Amino acid sequence: MNDLLIIGGGVIGLSVARELHKKGIKNITILEREGEVGKEASFAAAGMLAPHAESQRTDDFFYFCHESNEIYPNFARELFDETGVDIELNREGTLYLAFTENDSREIRERFEWQKNSGFSVEYLTAQEVRKAEPFVSPDVREGLFFPRDWQVENRRLLYALQKFAELNGIEIRTNTEVKNLLFENGKIIGAETDTEKFFVGKIVLASGAWTSLVKLDTRVLPMPTVRPIRGQMISFRTAKRLFAKVIYTPRGYLVPRADGRILSGATVEDAGFNKSLTESGIEFLRQNALEISPSLAGLEIFEKWSGLRPCAADGFPILGALPELENLFIATAHYRNGILLAPLTAKILADKIVGDKNSKYLESFSPRRFRTVTAI
Ligand code: FAD
Ligand code: GLY
Repeated sequence: MNDLLIIGGGVIGLSVARELHKKGIKNITILEREGEVGKEASFAAAGMLAPHAESQRTDDFFYFCHESNEIYPNFARELFDETGVDIELNREGTLYLAFTENDSREIRERFEWQKNSGFSVEYLTAQEVRKAEPFVSPDVREGLFFPRDWQVENRRLLYALQKFAELNGIEIRTNTEVKNLLFENGKIIGAETDTEKFFVGKIVLASGAWTSLVKLDTRVLPMPTVRPIRGQMISFRTAKRLFAKVIYTPRGYLVPRADGRILSGATVEDAGFNKSLTESGIEFLRQNALEISPSLAGLEIFEKWSGLRPCAADGFPILGALPELENLFIATAHYRNGILLAPLTAKILADKIVGDKNSKYLESFSPRRFRTVTAI
């Protein structure tokens, strides 16, 4: 019998596996549907660590994002020591720019609530914006600077986490799609694919946008719904690095990578499990990029891709156990912030699984919040 099974090898499953291993759980298996781990939403992401640019108010979600961001430098250092992989944590900060009157209203409101809450945010005139990033369009009206909104190269992060697993005896079973969770005498006893059964002590369900497709075999348990929200992305490549900082607007963002790529993202679309790229999506991303910087005009698109963000009914993560099934832990629905939230998600989940410690975030983001009936 395995000690612990993790269903899904995205950034969440891999980070939880690492944290549990560090806390002493030695017999961990990750089951991954695809031929490789880390090739779904976590690979598609832009890697922004952006609590100030992406939160809407000072609520538990904001603090959860903020705390996870604060532990990133240590997470990156530890991963480097453990695996030799640099995840390219870049702390140049993020600009949030206004090009229209509505944008100006939006950034002034954002400035007010963040300043009033004591967060790191600076107001910049158009001139100051262009001094910070000379390739930004002269049409920029004004902007904010978030010195503590950073970025990582999420593909390197996935590589580091996979390498940690390999170096530390965490088993990764690819091409292994879990169809059902097995249930007996009030407990989850394992998981099954079309051809195999796995019997375990504890399970972490970290299957991203596909979480609601995993079924219980014997009775119906109302599991919270997670739906896929497609994000299309493109990148350009320039010989000379044009930007140092991440640049955000209310319509999209540019993320400059160390290797000369500039990512332009992302669409937010309810298209089911369809990951196709669309002409209109790509054109939207190209136009957003040109609005921020006309210097990108005429560049060929270097890469195009898409991914499915896992999204709960209220848009917040789903973390922790259901009361009826104490050995099943859910870690999903990180929607637009799973890269940012991976280190803290892993920590609070591992603290719960190993030490029965309850973070306040397990309370805020408990699957129980969707309950209308008592099951079983
Ligand atoms: P995934 O990475 O999708 O991993 C889930 C894994 O589970 C997959 O590998 C899948 O194959 C596997 N799986 C599913 N079902 C089963 C099954 N039944 N059996 C076995 N395996 C299964 N977040 C940020 O913090 N910053 C960003 O800048 C950012 N940008 C984004 C841009 C785009 C375009 C997208 C799409 C997302 C972005 N995100 C960003 C969000 C982030 O990518 C996600 O929140 C995060 O990757 C979710 O991680 P995950 O491990 O839950 O899901
Ligand atoms: N967080 C960026 C995105 O989801 O597109």
